[in-house]
Amino acid sequence: MLAARTYFNIRTRTLQNRNHTRVLQKLSSVLNAATNRSYASPPERGNKAVLITGCDSGFGFSLAKNLHSKGFTVFAGCLLKDKGHAGVKELDQIKSDRMITVQLNVVKQEEVEKAVEIIKENLKDPEKGLWGLVNNAGISTFGEVEFTSMETYKEVADVNLWGTVRTTKACLPLIRRAKGRVVNISSMLGRMANPARSPYCITKFGVEAFSDCLRYEMHPLGVKVSVVEPGNFIVATDLYSPEKIKAIAEKMWNDLPEIVKNDYGRKYFDEKIARMNTYCNSGSADTAPVINDVTHALTAATPYTRYNPMDYYWWLRMQVMTHLPGAISDKIYIH
Ligand SMILES: NC(=O)c1ccc[n+]([C@@H]2O[C@H](COP(=O)([O-])OP(=O)(O)OC[C@H]3O[C@@H](n4cnc5c(N)ncnc54)[C@H](OP(=O)(O)O)[C@@H]3O)[C@@H](O)[C@H]2O)c1
Repeated sequence: MLAARTYFNIRTRTLQNRNHTRVLQKLSSVLNAATNRSYASPPERGNKAVLITGCDSGFGFSLAKNLHSKGFTVFAGCLLKDKGHAGVKELDQIKSDRMITVQLNVVKQEEVEKAVEIIKENLKDPEKGLWGLVNNAGISTFGEVEFTSMETYKEVADVNLWGTVRTTKACLPLIRRAKGRVVNISSMLGRMANPARSPYCITKFGVEAFSDCLRYEMHPLGVKVSVVEPGNFIVATDLYSPEKIKAIAEKMWNDLPEIVKNDYGRKYFDEKIARMNTYCNSGSADTAPVINDVTHALTAATPYTRYNPMDYYWWLRMQVMTHLPGAISDKIYIH
């Protein structure tokens, strides 16, 4: 009995050691690949096509122009193409058969399906599929949990989370044919939470989980899935403006239940809004790190799983929040 147990223990240990060695070997090759950032040569003009959502402004707008200049055929999904948004007009003025603006509200199933039809009609060979999808469309809001209505939670999730899921599902048959790429724009707030940002954070945490599941499922099919997690680029994009904050704050206060209004008081509420206003001019004005990371995810032979275009303060904070026990990171950053 004792001999059998000893044999069993030794055999288990040998198997475990072999597994550990395999894990270490894998880890070393992963670290090797991760430290060498290699860009594949840009596609031959028009050879690769990509759909980007949310191209009216911000990252999406810059990305559309950038990828077009690199030789991609760009399907630029724009929320307000039918309303003649200035950003859409500027993209149309490029007057190139590789820059195709498409009306696309990611909340509307019929607009997503129509966009996929337009893509199929314009691809040189639809059987070869679509190389890339960049799920970039997003909205943001703020507000403590007690200040945020269910309607607001649902509104933000409709665009950021369900919009990403809906557009991805609609494009996957084309992306699979190309053994292409899906790049989801999440946020550093998809990895670490922040007070007064729950309506936004929960959607971006959802995008992260969705991307991970999709990456595992698509791996055997040759499709690569990456997540880009920008830090603070508020000043460079249209995500927040004093006008947007004022409108959100007014509606929020008006819709608050009386008990919440009375318990917190107007002074507390106004202080929170004033703090939010100071963020409008914060962050990095240069979106190049985000654009470069998305480009890498679309073109590199071995794209990264996660990209962190952010300044050192936020990068360090994210490492602490995601790697240390909550009791320690809370003490450092939250309390
Ligand atoms: N800026 C930052 O600091 C930052 C940081 C981390 C992550 N992000 C993420 O980056 C992405 C791009 O945002 P951004 O910063 O570039 O802000 P942005 O300038 O506001 O761009 C977002 C774009 O999405 C569009 N959009 C909104 N609702 C849509 C819908 N239902 N369907 C399709 N498009 C829709 C907007 O159109 P309209 O302009 O017409 O409303 C806009 O063009 C978002 O996912 C955001 O969460 C931004």
